[in-house]
Amino acid sequence: MTSTTDFTELDLDKVDLTDLAYFQDGPPHQLFARMRSEANPHWNALTGDEPGFWSFTKATDIAAISKDPATFSSARGGVFATTRGAAPVEVLREVILGMDPPRHTAQRNVMQVVFTPKLMRQKESAIRSIVTELIDDVIEKGECDFVDDIAVELPLRVIADMLGVPQEDRRQLFEWTNRLSYAAATADPDMGLGALMEISGYLTGITADRKANPTDDLVSRLITAEVDGERLTEPEVTFFFGLLMFAGNDTTRNTASGGMRALIENDAERQKLIGNPAAIPNAIEEMLRWVNPVVYFSRTAQKDTDVNGHQIREGERVVMWYSAGSRDPELNAEPDTFDVSRHRPMHQAFGGGGPHFCLGNALAKLELRVLFEELTRRIPDMQFAGPITRLTSNFSNELTSMPVAFTPGQREGTGIA
Ligand code: HEM
Repeated sequence: MTSTTDFTELDLDKVDLTDLAYFQDGPPHQLFARMRSEANPHWNALTGDEPGFWSFTKATDIAAISKDPATFSSARGGVFATTRGAAPVEVLREVILGMDPPRHTAQRNVMQVVFTPKLMRQKESAIRSIVTELIDDVIEKGECDFVDDIAVELPLRVIADMLGVPQEDRRQLFEWTNRLSYAAATADPDMGLGALMEISGYLTGITADRKANPTDDLVSRLITAEVDGERLTEPEVTFFFGLLMFAGNDTTRNTASGGMRALIENDAERQKLIGNPAAIPNAIEEMLRWVNPVVYFSRTAQKDTDVNGHQIREGERVVMWYSAGSRDPELNAEPDTFDVSRHRPMHQAFGGGGPHFCLGNALAKLELRVLFEELTRRIPDMQFAGPITRLTSNFSNELTSMPVAFTPGQREGTGIA
């Protein structure tokens, strides 16, 4: 595969979605549409030790798999398309994303109580202060790199604060997050493991301090929480921290930059939001649907079974292409149109439902709402000012740079960092 632009002539039997050439321009929606109608599910053969996998591109199938963890395990084969994901399978099993019930349920409960929509709403004014500061830092110049200056910084500052990591260390979190994202993209579990080992070393100092002086941050919660009467082990704390750091950063960042890109490319849609903050929550759902930053996760069948009538054998891997599910015409009419006033945009950006449904969805939506309320109010005429670059990945729909320009404006914050 060399070109990613024309998928109409491809022989679907030969399609291999671990080949990153298909993802050079982002998720291959034209190909997903063909797979949905001509090869559902699609058998993705692989060479070497990897046995291949079934690709599911229909929203109803993705939902059915997601909601049946007893049949479709996250622990057995990991959550990536092959055994070579962002971290080794045995490490993934130590983090809720890669656990099955009942262990998953017990560990997820440790954090579930912290991420409720009600508790998240209490963070709104702190999040607005961060957004104000980020816009203040660029508004007088009339230009910035939207990815680096805005989209990266907002979730990074929010999650660093929640975790209890000093803000001066947040670029280190950024670097680890990028390394995990790159490890997922390049199927290099050793790279991911290396980042997790560094995180473990970094956490030693912080956890020692929190054991002596617990606060209300997430690190304190992780080290004091009890699951079935036992404290989390040191690796469990490290991997939970790593998951929250990664999940809290990369996804929200990519929705913000992909969402801003969609608004610039569709100015009529942007105009619907200017001076109309009430329209923003719906626009955020449409951005999530459109960008769908987590492209897929997988499960492994625990027994011979079927997915809405499609036979799957015990031990076979099933990949749920959430990006495809979010563009399924059975979920939304005209799915390839970006329409911020679409009535109730439906999507699978946070997964297909079921027990692993994104724990941080309320936080992500809050960050994105506040960000776009402030951006549409203060920088209504943002335009592209240079080449947009992206990470070539079949897992993250990720922009790495998006230079923009706009009419300079006034600072609104105190200017005190
Ligand atoms: C736009 C932003 C986000 C998107 C698109 C997103 C997407 C996802 C997806 C697709 C899953 C897997 C769902 C499944 O397997 O069924 C997931 C799980 C998860 N997300 Fe998010 N996420 C976002 C933001 C966040 C934030 C801000 C946090 C908070 C720190 C977070 C924490 C988690 C955790 C801990 C899990 C694992 C849940 C489990 O296995 O039970 N996410 N997310």
